[in-house]
Amino acid sequence: MARNEDYGIVAVDIGTSKVAALMFVADDAGRPAVEGYGVVSSEGVKKGIITDVEAAIGAISAAVAKAEDTSGLVARQAVVGIGGRHISSMRSYGMIPLEKGPRRITQDDVDRVVSYAGILRLPEDSALMGIIPRDIIVDGQKGMNRPVGMNAVRIETDAVVITANTQQLEACDTIMKSLRTELAGKYANSICAAEAVLSPEEKEWGAAVVDMGAGTTDISIYSDRSLIRLASVPMGSANITNDIAKVLQVPVNQAEQLKVRFGTARPALVDKDEVIDASTMATGHDASLGCAVSRSELCRVIEARIFEILDRVAAEIDAEGLLGRLPSGIVLTGGGSLMPYLPEFIQENLKVPARVARPSADLGLPKQLDFPQMSAAAGLMRTCLMDRSTAGEATAQKKERHRGRGVKDLLKGLIDLN
Ligand SMILES: Nc1ncnc2c1ncn2[C@@H]1O[C@H](COP(=O)(O)OP(=O)(O)OP(=O)(O)O)[C@@H](O)[C@H]1O
Ligand SMILES: [Mg+2]
Repeated sequence: MARNEDYGIVAVDIGTSKVAALMFVADDAGRPAVEGYGVVSSEGVKKGIITDVEAAIGAISAAVAKAEDTSGLVARQAVVGIGGRHISSMRSYGMIPLEKGPRRITQDDVDRVVSYAGILRLPEDSALMGIIPRDIIVDGQKGMNRPVGMNAVRIETDAVVITANTQQLEACDTIMKSLRTELAGKYANSICAAEAVLSPEEKEWGAAVVDMGAGTTDISIYSDRSLIRLASVPMGSANITNDIAKVLQVPVNQAEQLKVRFGTARPALVDKDEVIDASTMATGHDASLGCAVSRSELCRVIEARIFEILDRVAAEIDAEGLLGRLPSGIVLTGGGSLMPYLPEFIQENLKVPARVARPSADLGLPKQLDFPQMSAAAGLMRTCLMDRSTAGEATAQKKERHRGRGVKDLLKGLIDLN
């Protein structure tokens, strides 16, 4: 493990199939610069939920160690992205009078009104994970993006509050403590994925980011430049693999290869007589199983599960009355989005535009990480650098060569919204 004078921040996406750690420093403009990375198979995580802390520690520490080695930096601070069904959102509202007003609004006032939106009776076993202000209202006037310095008697906020299971949040703390890395922030993977793939225009017009991973499909819905709702469907691309294994009676690792190499979401486009010779695919212990597979049947199994997942995704978007009303449609990301013809499937069945997205180029990921699987990890870097509450905790160290600045420094003077 690298041990020297230079420190970085490590962004860790704890996924169901992989743990991705990106070591980065922030440049003077507040952009993350990736210095190294580690991606390893996940352990102790099921459907995005940490089920075995010890096993998770093993995988996460291996990913972080690789990120340290490849960067030559020490992970003094970490930010963690988690997903799964236990993460949810609710709309909230906060208001404060400005004592002895009218007077000028300070950043402190804005922070205070936003924090008031988090004063809620939460469901049992849930804890506050974040508050995202959608709007700041100054003396009844909506849409005040930069309220600091305005003269007013009261400010209000319309916000989205993110909550997560208390045990899961504690598990993250335990894991990072064992790694001797200061945990500077915990974020919902769905928000991070959206930060990596959505353009400002898509956020403004309205879009749903659908991060189809191995165990979960995380959804974040945006409109009017800001988050409206988070949701998660406890199914992902690994469910497709398991279906293939069961229906075609092949081992799971062979099913995975069949899915990735020959799968499509559109069986109608496949020659119904096409037969795949699966005998050459590595099958681990069960080498004698599964030789000739009908490609058409394979794709029908895939289509059925995709239909089920997308039906649930559509229901979550519809819960906000926004199905068919998001001009930028569905932006797919995560490993499951690599299934050929998935956007076409969505366009045909849900009647909404769809595209597959990788992390945006300005996040500067190295070429070997430029895949939809890395969206949540890449967006995690940006999310933490934009977060005012992280600024309160984090004191990221400098790497002189890069003149990198800590999270706190970077947020000085930034606006409170977005
Ligand atoms: N070319 C491909 N076609 C279809 N599926 C693919 C392809 N490549 C990878 N996948 C699937 O993507 C999944 C992994 O995606 P990803 O890395 O985004 O998941 P994760 O972040 O580990 O899981 P989660 O977000 O659910 O916790 C695996 O199930 C894998 O089979
Ligand atoms: Mg994921």
